[in-house]
Amino acid sequence: MTSTAIGPSSLLARWMHEGVFKCLHCGSARLDLLPEGVACGACDATWPVRNQVPDFFNQYTAGRGPGGETPWDAESDDELVATLVRSLDLGEGDDVRDRVRDIVQRSQVLACDNLALSAEIRDLIDRFSPAPVAATLPPPAPQSNRDARIGFVRHYFGERVPARAPFCANVRVQNVGAHPWSSRTEVPRTLSARWRGQDGSTVPAGDFSFPVDIAPQGGCITLPLRLTAPRRPGPWHLCIGLADGGRWLPQAAGLEIPLVVRPAWLSVWRDFAARLPWRDAPVLPVVNPQGLDYGADHALGTQIIGDWVRETGRSGLRLLEVGSGTHPQTAWQLDLDVLAVDISAPMLELGSLYFRQRFVERLGFVCADAFDPPFMPAQFDAIAIFSALHHFPEPDSLLLALARLLRPGGVIFVMCEPVGDSLDGAETVRDLAKGINEQVFSLDEYQRIFARAGLKPQSLRVDGGSLKTVLERG
Ligand SMILES: C[S@@+](CC[C@H](N)C(=O)[O-])C[C@H]1O[C@@H](n2cnc3c(N)ncnc32)[C@H](O)[C@@H]1O
Ligand SMILES: [Zn+2]
Repeated sequence: MTSTAIGPSSLLARWMHEGVFKCLHCGSARLDLLPEGVACGACDATWPVRNQVPDFFNQYTAGRGPGGETPWDAESDDELVATLVRSLDLGEGDDVRDRVRDIVQRSQVLACDNLALSAEIRDLIDRFSPAPVAATLPPPAPQSNRDARIGFVRHYFGERVPARAPFCANVRVQNVGAHPWSSRTEVPRTLSARWRGQDGSTVPAGDFSFPVDIAPQGGCITLPLRLTAPRRPGPWHLCIGLADGGRWLPQAAGLEIPLVVRPAWLSVWRDFAARLPWRDAPVLPVVNPQGLDYGADHALGTQIIGDWVRETGRSGLRLLEVGSGTHPQTAWQLDLDVLAVDISAPMLELGSLYFRQRFVERLGFVCADAFDPPFMPAQFDAIAIFSALHHFPEPDSLLLALARLLRPGGVIFVMCEPVGDSLDGAETVRDLAKGINEQVFSLDEYQRIFARAGLKPQSLRVDGGSLKTVLERG
């Protein structure tokens, strides 16, 4: 029941034949789509195919949740299965219900050691029957804040800031201690920042609360720090560490980011000069203060891709949609061949059931970790990511890996990504509490992320905090 044969004219069979795919074990392009799964013709690697979705991630254990328990209960499962069948219009019949039940149960049992990926996959249930947004967080663990050991993973600061200017940049930190961090305790634990000048004097720069408690032994968060640059131009260091009740914990200080504070007039002049017509001017963002709802915002992103396809005047272009979930946004662009990739096989399998045979010759679903994509280099004319780039702990490395998959002249569409300076929104807090890696970046940080990946915006717009950009190799 878990495997359904895919015809030779399907997009998946065609692209395996054309050498688009790559064996994740030996790197060979000789992959075959057989009724029982995908097999490498050069080594003995195989991957299962369920509901027409090859699973190159395939880290599920049968019958047991991450803690050894059986996490589903039959009654709520039946309700969810009925909701899914109805909302995806999958039709009647025991077979369809059995398939959906199997998908739901599999979404709850995986042996993946990456907590954020596990959270993404288990989120299937909430995507289709969401928990109330105002769900309260469980009380902080009694042992919270007992020790203070911090790991600095990465930051998104630039090298220069104008004097006295407010700005925001993220730092990703890890709790490497044995106890959780909580900003909700009587003496709240915060991330604390201070400016240190050349003469060694320091100026407080702010205390920043954790929106959710950070798990010990490896829990991570990318926290936006809202700061104001010092008044005095020159070289400074931003020192970041932990504090309890605003009291700096010297044993948990560590990260020192060097920053040059520029006189304000110099920044104004450089901004102006960068836009002079004889310079290789960066594209200016179009900023629309009006936000759109999810549907309209995604429709606008899809329209930008449609316009690009029309401008190329070509058909049958190959597009890879990364982090597509159940419903790839580009599925309805009839001029495109679309491969949808996500870490969640259950989500993709529901998509495959929804589309049935509808676009099988130009639409396929593949489960894979986008950081480890099972594709040969230079295979795609375009890559699209909708509302997913900000979930990746290293968005620049992801874009770099994806850029290698582009054919010459190919572009990456980064669509509907959150621009802002706070993780405090109710939905963001809810998802962080589930373990999903929610992040939010300023426009400057996105520009640095793109530059680090060797990508250059062709166009850039922000609609009420939703970024849409078309990137080319710089
Ligand atoms: C917020 S959802 C966006 C879904 C859809 N594109 C949309 O716009 O509604 C983020 C998606 O990224 C996927 N994702 C997260 N980490 C991933 C990874 N390492 N590889 C592939 N997909 C990933 C999640 O499973 C999830 O479906
Ligand atoms: Zn192989």
